Amino acid sequence: MITAEHEKLLTSLAGQRVMIVGDVMLDHYTFGAVSRISPEAPVPVVEVISEEYVLGGAGNVARNINALGGHATMLAVIGDDRDGETLAQILDDNSVNSVLVHDDRRRTTRKTRIIAQNQQIVRVDRETSEPLSESVVGGLLENIATHAQDHDIVIVSDYGKGVITRPVMDALRAITGANGRRPRILVDPKPQNYDLYHGVDILTPNAKEAGEGANLPCAWPAGPARVGQALFDRLGCRDLLITLGPQGMALFEGRAKATHIPTFARKVFDVTGAGDTVIATLALAMAAGASLLDAAVLANHAAGIVVAQVGAATPTLEALRQAVEARPAPPVAPLPGME
Ligand SMILES: Nc1ncnc2c1ncn2[C@@H]1O[C@H](COP(=O)(O)OP(=O)(O)OP(=O)(O)O)[C@@H](O)[C@H]1O
Ligand SMILES: [Mg+2]
Repeated sequence: MITAEHEKLLTSLAGQRVMIVGDVMLDHYTFGAVSRISPEAPVPVVEVISEEYVLGGAGNVARNINALGGHATMLAVIGDDRDGETLAQILDDNSVNSVLVHDDRRRTTRKTRIIAQNQQIVRVDRETSEPLSESVVGGLLENIATHAQDHDIVIVSDYGKGVITRPVMDALRAITGANGRRPRILVDPKPQNYDLYHGVDILTPNAKEAGEGANLPCAWPAGPARVGQALFDRLGCRDLLITLGPQGMALFEGRAKATHIPTFARKVFDVTGAGDTVIATLALAMAAGASLLDAAVLANHAAGIVVAQVGAATPTLEALRQAVEARPAPPVAPLPGME
């Protein structure tokens, strides 16, 4: 049985608009078979059977939002190269409204995984991690001014490839949105950039990133409460959601109230992309007017679905509905160590 309240929240996700600013990547999978060792060097020879291109990084957040029935607008930087064209095409294929700033001095980030016999043999990265040029930053700022004001929720998906800088964060904090107030800013942080996120609405680090930001261990059960307090001290953020892998999540609604939401995952195959699913679902539910606790519980359900699938999977609205129906009342409890 699904409660009327849950039904209402799930139905209201459809059509919600979320803007994402961050580092998009092209995930390239090459699947093959190995039958011999190379005569040139002691390495396997992979005969390619198939290839696939998938949205990665901030692009995977956009893919998750659209899979749940939302409308994602993606603001990102690509190079003037074929990978950039491919990326623009698959954003389109996923119905993501993309606003792409071209940089002819950068290459589009691409991560190639070569997989044979269900095993990753090697990963090959192509990327530019130098700071963006002034004109590209200018292009980002212009687009933030144009598009962020039409949105109530903005996700900053920082994979540390150069899009998220102080001017970009300052611009986001200075926008007045459609309803006369600043869009709420949700950040999936990169530890090296913590100082850029001051005063945002909510951060969603995993335990490792949270621990690095706080300079404290985040080990369960006593770690998250202490780490959370230190992050509030450092960042002055409004709320905080630390994802704890197999332990689920710790939600801080302000610094004084913290809740533990245990994982809903029943089987775990591949945790890749679970963090993207969490921030996407959280944002969509917040855009639909859910309370922060309801939004986090829904995000935890969505993460439980993707970890049971192989690769960076995305839950559909129907799969999320079934997950909530199977387990509507989560055993949430005060976070240990908060007394
Ligand atoms: N091993 C696991 N068992 C059960 N649930 C898990 C597991 N790993 C992840 N989850 C679920 O996924 C959510 C996010 O996972 P995690 O804390 O690993 O984020 P992450 O490290 O940012 O993920 P990624 O970077 O791979 O996208 C958790 O809050 C939990 O609901
Ligand atoms: Mg993550």
